Amino acid sequence: MINGKKILFSGMQATGSLTLGNYLGALKNWVALSDEYDCFYSVVDMHSITIRQDPSILRKRARKLLSTYIAAGIDPAKSCIYYQSHVSAHAEMMWILSCFTYIGELNRMTQFKDKSEKHANNINAGLFTYPILMAADILLYQADVVPVGVDQIQHLEITRNIAERFNNLYGDVFTIPEAYVGKIGAKIMSLQDPLKKMSKSDENPNGSIYLMDNVDTVIKKCKRAITDSKGMILYLDEQPGVKNLIDIYCSCTGKQPCETVKEFEGKGYKVLKEAVGEEVNSILQPLQRRVAEIEKDTVYLNSIIKNNSEKAEYFANQTLRKIQKKVGFPERLR
Ligand code: TRP
Repeated sequence: MINGKKILFSGMQATGSLTLGNYLGALKNWVALSDEYDCFYSVVDMHSITIRQDPSILRKRARKLLSTYIAAGIDPAKSCIYYQSHVSAHAEMMWILSCFTYIGELNRMTQFKDKSEKHANNINAGLFTYPILMAADILLYQADVVPVGVDQIQHLEITRNIAERFNNLYGDVFTIPEAYVGKIGAKIMSLQDPLKKMSKSDENPNGSIYLMDNVDTVIKKCKRAITDSKGMILYLDEQPGVKNLIDIYCSCTGKQPCETVKEFEGKGYKVLKEAVGEEVNSILQPLQRRVAEIEKDTVYLNSIIKNNSEKAEYFANQTLRKIQKKVGFPERLR
């Protein structure tokens, strides 16, 4: 607890360009949650290098991601937004936690298996210990809640297990975090394969709408979205393509699926697709303008980066010092 509020931690990787799915499924919720909780939102660049990155692209993307957090409506004077790599406590905490994590536990992580298959020429140790770094992120800030996508729930479970194991040995030092899986717009699917989540790492760029896509690209991608041959606009699992378009529409407009089904009754898929494209653009256009403004204001952005990383460091170091003491490291003399 900070000032009587519960603590929330979450992070996003600066790998690939953010998609509409990241925005509607995660970022938008982050903004909504930032009043109720004391929030730490990290750009997890240390996680990013588990996959080979072009250094200058990674740096640019990390800065854009941070700007996008602000542009989406997270107030950097209230919520702490910072680069993970600026707070060295993450790496130090990770080392300690790795001595309380079993290989057997890590072996069960499905994301490691998926990523190893995808990057068979670079199965590095960081890819394997990735969940421990994530546990360090969360536990350093004594987070009560962690908004994550379903694909990260397993990592949150291992975080809880590590924390409980540590608490059992050394007393209640860690808050046991709960996953917060968003209810609204939680899962936007690929426009080309509506059974697959919309992803920034999709090889087919038509499957994803990127936050930085221009007006025409968005319209074109919506037009090409895969639907079905039923010709009826209904909100059913049997029509995953149409259902996804309705979800996107509802997420953008705040309307309910049943309302939307009524609105489009008797109309064709073309009309729905056009409407979705327009609504998406009416969200993305102002967002893109704000990102550009923020990125241009170097002095402002740099001051946010500096102040917030100091704030993050302050909280993280408090937990780290406590943990170092618990495991028996010698006291620091000044
Ligand atoms: N692994 C998460 C993802 O790829 C990102 C992440 C890193 C994270 N550390 C975190 C999310 C801590 C929540 C909490 O989506």
